[in-house]
Amino acid sequence: MSLRSMFAGVVKTYDFLNRIITFGLDNMWRKSCAKECTSGNVVLDLCCGTGDLALYIAEYATPETQVVGLDFNKGMLWKALNKRAMAGRKHGKIYNVSFILADAAHLPFKEGCFDRIGISFSFLNLIYKNPLAKAYLKAVLRILDTRGKFVCVETSQPGFRPLRILYHLYLRKVVSFIGGLVSGRKDAYRYLGRSAINFPPGEKIVEMLLSTGFRKALFQPMTFGAVGLYEGIK
Ligand SMILES: C[S@@+](CC[C@H](N)C(=O)[O-])C[C@H]1O[C@@H](n2cnc3c(N)ncnc32)[C@H](O)[C@@H]1O
Repeated sequence: MSLRSMFAGVVKTYDFLNRIITFGLDNMWRKSCAKECTSGNVVLDLCCGTGDLALYIAEYATPETQVVGLDFNKGMLWKALNKRAMAGRKHGKIYNVSFILADAAHLPFKEGCFDRIGISFSFLNLIYKNPLAKAYLKAVLRILDTRGKFVCVETSQPGFRPLRILYHLYLRKVVSFIGGLVSGRKDAYRYLGRSAINFPPGEKIVEMLLSTGFRKALFQPMTFGAVGLYEGIK
């Protein structure tokens, strides 16, 4: 099954399940990523899904900051558009966020046009057993401005072994069970568990960023290492 059809099958329950399987922590992690993306004039939320990261960036950044969310799944983008409208009504302002339907493999942007590129919980999809992994990273580097910053929030590996074993058990058994039950797509949540378990540790991601051509890269574990914040400076 392709990634595209997998995500198409989970759109309806996507946000709800995120809250459940992360015990409500997912938006706190996205906010940490958003805060690192606010100092740019033009910011991309790559593989934006239902748009949470893009909207947080717009909330934290100056009103002039232009935020673009990109995803290849129409259903996710419809939800993102709805959220933007609801957030606008709630806060009585117009969010400077636009959404684009496109594939990360063919980014429709000019070289160096983004000051910041953020990605939340999608990096896994771009690099886990993905033959295009290097190409995606090269593409990100191409559209980043000189001294631009790539910020990624993604699952990670707890350093403390007993905790890591428990975390993997949770991903393998509980996430695929609850995800399958609620979404009806056990395959999708089994993939999520498997890819998170096999996701490289922070130091490996740092090496990967440096070998792609980022000048500096760093990794900061969050929530006992279950999640990490990764940054690459061009
Ligand atoms: C796990 S979701 C994460 C969504 C969102 N960033 C979040 O924080 O919830 C992964 C998203 O990446 C998108 N995606 C995966 N591969 C993609 C690609 N090659 N190009 C564009 N979008 C992609 C999927 O459609 C999906 O919306």
